[in-house]
Amino acid sequence: MKTVPLVVTGFGNVGRAFFSLMREKKEDLKRRYGLALDVLAVAQAEGCFYSGGPLEVRQISQGGEPWTSGNPSWRAEMKVADIIEETGPGGCLVECTLSNLETGEPGLSYITGAFHGGWHAVAASKGALVVGFPALKALAAEKGVFLKLSGATAAALPTLDVGLFSLAGARIEGIQGILNGTTNYILTRMGEGLDYAEALQEAQARGIAEPDPAHDVDGWDTASKILIITNACLDADYGLKDVQVRGIAGVSVDFVQSARREGRSVKLLATASPKRQAGKWSLDVRPSLIEATHPLANVNGTEKGITFLTDSMGSVTVTGGRSNPRGAAAALLKDIINIYRPAF
Ligand SMILES: NC(=O)c1ccc[n+]([C@@H]2O[C@H](COP(=O)([O-])OP(=O)(O)OC[C@H]3O[C@@H](n4cnc5c(N)ncnc54)[C@H](OP(=O)(O)O)[C@@H]3O)[C@@H](O)[C@H]2O)c1
Repeated sequence: MKTVPLVVTGFGNVGRAFFSLMREKKEDLKRRYGLALDVLAVAQAEGCFYSGGPLEVRQISQGGEPWTSGNPSWRAEMKVADIIEETGPGGCLVECTLSNLETGEPGLSYITGAFHGGWHAVAASKGALVVGFPALKALAAEKGVFLKLSGATAAALPTLDVGLFSLAGARIEGIQGILNGTTNYILTRMGEGLDYAEALQEAQARGIAEPDPAHDVDGWDTASKILIITNACLDADYGLKDVQVRGIAGVSVDFVQSARREGRSVKLLATASPKRQAGKWSLDVRPSLIEATHPLANVNGTEKGITFLTDSMGSVTVTGGRSNPRGAAAALLKDIINIYRPAF
């Protein structure tokens, strides 16, 4: 049995879902992979939950909310880097803080600190990867640790596992994706007759869209994902400024419904395609009309999908995957398993 020390940064929807999934899968992880996961600390902005041993969720939260005042496991001002240093190399940081696409923080500092301490990192947050993926990748290589990004790149839908491993040896000649469940849900419901405002309201009422949906509906979540996937798969260094982004707020119900009557559909499609100049790619996110024969045409509701066009393996499409915190937690868990599982 291998015991894996973990530090979870951020205890919001995904951090909490990760805790409950770990508890649910505890015996399975031991039996199938010989892994025991011990969360040594959970970091919030003002400090860490830390008790000197593996933490249980009851030491972190009460009534589902983080419990700091009067909690013997709450250490205000305690730093993640100190816990990593004290534990020694070989653990894994589980990055679940907010995605700040301008500064990359706080994830950038957490991941960098983990690498300097000889720890691997798995990320659900996108900020650090949007701002500094090439540098993080280089640092991980220098320190001999893994950086895994499934949680940040459409989570339960395998995107990088396909692009980096399943397509090894093939040349990727284009990528297309429906990478955001919220906007796909809204467009699907518009195809069924709701107008934009009604579909958004329904998505919010069902907990699919955030109270402030701008990040999703304006296309930036999709843009971040296609950027990270492209940089990782092509070993490139594009920035968010290189992505042309148009969201779905201006899409009319008439447009979506007339497309549907013609057997087509409107999707917020992310595209990475080679430009005419050698070695340059264009990255684009926009509401797009797609034919019924397109491999992503039947990706509806909160589902997502990705198509890779390759030179030697043809077109490869993956669809599905849960779009919620539990799906994101499952993607983090998958990455941890794949870092530590015995080779076969
Ligand atoms: N929700 C999903 O389905 C999903 C799916 C895939 C990926 N993601 C990504 O996963 C990340 C987490 O998502 P979420 O839904 O869990 O967001 P969330 O509920 O807003 O959680 C973010 C957490 O980070 C904490 N935080 C803020 N600054 C921090 C710092 N300096 N150190 C440690 N913790 C800090 C926040 O604490 P306070 O509340 O006290 O500020 C909050 O607990 C995001 O980057 C998101 O883009 C989410």
